[in-house]
Amino acid sequence: MDSVLLGLAGVLGNDRVEVDGARVATVSRDESDLPPARPLAVVRPRHTQDVVAVVRACHDARLPLTARGGGTSLEGSSVPSVGAIVLDLSDLARVAQTSVEERLAVVEAGVVFDRLNERLRPTGLFFPPTPGGSADAATIGGMVATDAGGLYAVRYGGTRRWVRGLTVVTGDGTILHTGSRLPKTSTGVDLTQVFVGAEGTLGIVTEVTLGLCPVPEARQRAAWAFDDLGTACACVADLLLGIPDLAAVEVVDRGTVDLLRAGADGAGAPAGDLLLIEVHGRASECAAAIQAACDIASTFGARPVDGATDPWELRHRLTRAVRESAAPSGVVRTDAAVPLPRLAAFVAATQERAAARGRRLHVFGHAGLGILHFLAPLAGAGAWPLDEARDWKVALCVEATRQGGVVSGEHGVGLGNREAYLATAGATLPYLRALKSVFDPAGILNPGKIL
Ligand code: LAC
Ligand code: ZN
Repeated sequence: MDSVLLGLAGVLGNDRVEVDGARVATVSRDESDLPPARPLAVVRPRHTQDVVAVVRACHDARLPLTARGGGTSLEGSSVPSVGAIVLDLSDLARVAQTSVEERLAVVEAGVVFDRLNERLRPTGLFFPPTPGGSADAATIGGMVATDAGGLYAVRYGGTRRWVRGLTVVTGDGTILHTGSRLPKTSTGVDLTQVFVGAEGTLGIVTEVTLGLCPVPEARQRAAWAFDDLGTACACVADLLLGIPDLAAVEVVDRGTVDLLRAGADGAGAPAGDLLLIEVHGRASECAAAIQAACDIASTFGARPVDGATDPWELRHRLTRAVRESAAPSGVVRTDAAVPLPRLAAFVAATQERAAARGRRLHVFGHAGLGILHFLAPLAGAGAWPLDEARDWKVALCVEATRQGGVVSGEHGVGLGNREAYLATAGATLPYLRALKSVFDPAGILNPGKIL
């Protein structure tokens, strides 16, 4: 074993440093279809002090270090570089404190999103950002690293809004405590937010002070079918203006619905281009909000959905179903966002261009936030050649940015959104590089991601 690893095994314990076996294979990839990379070792710390020991060792030996939570990134944020050390934070899984009075929880980075909310249930509070399809595996540290969002960000925002403070180990092994327990401060530059969304490139978050939200008294859902996806999107701005209690506004294109209809358990699925909403609030207000939403949607030609299957249940199966339809190669996906007034035309133009090329394109996502997932399958009917799909993705992200949107509204930059990010970062780039060198002077932290 490498001398650095022997040293770490001495500090953390032999069973905490692995150089082969199933765990090394697992951490070579994430939930994206980007190429895996085999690390030198996986190291599993138990405490912040263990993380300090690992960072110091990597700093001194100039070894790349990639922190990992649930490995649910969809853009390669947690794929290591070849020969790196992967810092698996899943054993930092303690909920250190909850304070109902302050509406906060102090949690370690490896706590899984669903586990935290199960634990909070008796308090009547919850941590709202709900990652689509991975809530049972995504960790709070990973959500902080990518500023993860999800279905309910329309009402509750993404992870960033709830982070009050952090314990971070910077690239030379210094422990920083940023922020406070308070929901609002004005004490100078907010360093906490510098680390949120930085994907472990500026420091390794080991503990998070999270604000919490009261669980809404009631939730109610509705869904409609439209003649085309552009019209479904055109309706969204009016819904948001008219219904303050909206928590989620999702769309799914008819081709993706048809894919699910053709699969096992698909017979009861509704047909058409779908728009789904969920409202949160007091029970009496929810019913009125749904009625008002129905009135608005009907002016856009919305029809009630048919079929016995709950469209929301379909929504949760989409990501996996599309990926399976493109096995074994997988998909190239986007999570770019555009301002709402641009959404309908952006969707229609993107669909038209794919159809003109004879390519299959799946579209679904968080229309209420302007975030859409376009998925280009790399195998199966209407498959895209990999190079064409990659070029298409960069062009789409650059165009979204040109229209006032962003490259990534949800999944982070990682590896998969990096080219488009660099193409659009402009004059901010040298400042971001300077920031990186301040917090990570040896350039060891998750190299090759974002910048
Ligand atoms: C979703 C994930 C893939 O929206 O972002 O389902
Ligand atoms: Zn999403």
